[in-house]
Amino acid sequence: MDGNGRWAQKRFLPRVAGHRQGVEAVRTLLRSAAKHGVTHLTVFAFSSENWKRPQDEVSYLMELFFKALREEIQKLHENGIRFRAIGDISALSTEIQTLIADAEKLTSGNLKQTFNVAVNYGGRWDIEQAVERAANAGSATDFAKHLAFADQPDPDLFIRTGGERRISNFLLWQIAYTELYFTDVLWPDFGEAEFDSAVQWFANRERRFGQTGEQVRSVAAVKA
Ligand code: IPE
Ligand code: MG
Repeated sequence: MDGNGRWAQKRFLPRVAGHRQGVEAVRTLLRSAAKHGVTHLTVFAFSSENWKRPQDEVSYLMELFFKALREEIQKLHENGIRFRAIGDISALSTEIQTLIADAEKLTSGNLKQTFNVAVNYGGRWDIEQAVERAANAGSATDFAKHLAFADQPDPDLFIRTGGERRISNFLLWQIAYTELYFTDVLWPDFGEAEFDSAVQWFANRERRFGQTGEQVRSVAAVKA
C-alpha cells in the first residue's frame, strides 16, 4: 500500500492525512476482495524498515493501526474473516500485542477469508526467523514450514500501488510464482474499480509454473 504521503502532499495536507485515507482504502479493499471471493488477503502495513521514518509518523501509524483494528475487529468477525498479524510483533507496544492476540483468538475459527496484516514485517526477517526455528527443531531442510505463511497458499496476485516497480522486502520466498501487478495509482485512490482492473489483468495471465504454454493449455482442455 504505497503512496499515502504523496496523496496528502498533493492536497497540501500533512502525510498522516494520507495514512488516515489509506485506512479507508483498506476498508474498500476488504469489500472488493469479498466480492471477488478472495480467500487470503494480505496488506503490507508497516515494514521492518519503516521504523527509520520520523518518530511522529511512526507513532501515528501505530496509533492508526491500533484504532482501526479495535474498530473493525467485530465487523471482520461477523463477516467470517480470520484476522492474522504477521511480522515481528514482539517489537510493538504491549497494548497492540494484546489487541492482536485477542483479535486472532476471536476470529480463529472463521473460514471465509484470512486477512493478514503485515506489521513490522520484512521478507528477509521472515526467512531468517524460519531458518532459526528450523535449526532449533533440528531439521534445517524443512525451514519453509516455519515461514509466516506456511499454513496458507502462496499468493496468486501481488499488487503494488504508488508507482514504484519493486518488492521492498515484502513476501520474498512466497512470491516465486506470483503475478506482479504495478500501478501508479496512489494507495488512498485505490478503489473498487482499480481492484477490478487488477483482477481482470490477473485473469488474463497464463500461469505456467515452469511448464510450456502447450502443456498448460492441454491440461486445461482436459479439465474443461
Ligand atoms: C504508505 O505510503 C506506506 C506505509 C503505510 C508505511 P507512504 O507513506 O510510503 O507514501 P509515499 O510513498 O510517501 O507517498
Ligand atoms: Mg512510499
